[in-house]
Amino acid sequence: MEYTVMLPAAGSGRRMGAGENKLFLRLGGEAILVRTLRVFDEDPDCRGIILAVRPDERERIRKMIEESGITKVSAMPDGGGERQDSVRACVRAFIGSGGSGDAVVMVHDAARPFISRTVIGELASVAAEHGAAIAAVRSKDTVKRVRDGLVESTPDRNSLWLVQTPQAFRAALLAEAEERAEADGFLGTDESMLVERLGYPVRIVESTYDNVKMTTKEDLAIGEVLLKRLEEEHE
Ligand code: CTP
Ligand code: MG
Repeated sequence: MEYTVMLPAAGSGRRMGAGENKLFLRLGGEAILVRTLRVFDEDPDCRGIILAVRPDERERIRKMIEESGITKVSAMPDGGGERQDSVRACVRAFIGSGGSGDAVVMVHDAARPFISRTVIGELASVAAEHGAAIAAVRSKDTVKRVRDGLVESTPDRNSLWLVQTPQAFRAALLAEAEERAEADGFLGTDESMLVERLGYPVRIVESTYDNVKMTTKEDLAIGEVLLKRLEEEHE
């Protein structure tokens, strides 16, 4: 199933503490951003990449894309102050350039370079059929709801899923959800929340635990281990 991917890349990487956008940090000798871009660039089902960037990083990123031979970036809108603003900029760029409401689009954190092609494919086909599909893994840990340091309740672990990106949607549905959130001043922590609040069903696609978001220094260390494992698998 063909799709267009939207990659928010306009963060600042505060928790990584690198003093610059963490997406420029190298993993196995290559920038995290380039690794994520390459997954989609090499996927025959990916029709285009819309990349939200910080205006002051646009030239640097443009150069990186050129030097690494990435060819599918079709638009690079300015990102915004919140991740949701950056994603909305991507959605507007897609619709503004004549993207069809029936097309499948997916939003993926540029900071998750280990996303598997299998999960991407599954998300695209489930979203095409049902409208919305998000990548998630089962919680390995027991999760507590806590208030003021006291446990309030323990939700049944079998009903708990840890949500990642990609999150895939019919484009018209994501566009409606983004615009409604903006009009209502609603800030969500993922795209699914914006769709859920309109009452549309969202399906889970089981993902893998190695689709880690590079957030803190520990994640970089995990990333290096995952890369080694991938290299060994391909030997
Ligand atoms: N992002 C974005 N625009 C923002 C904030 C985040 O495009 N205003 C992007 C990041 O570049 C990243 C993805 O959204 O690819 C997930 O966000 P996160 O992991 O939180 O990255 P940062 O916001 O950069 O990191 P931090 O929250 O630690 O500052
Ligand atoms: Mg952030």
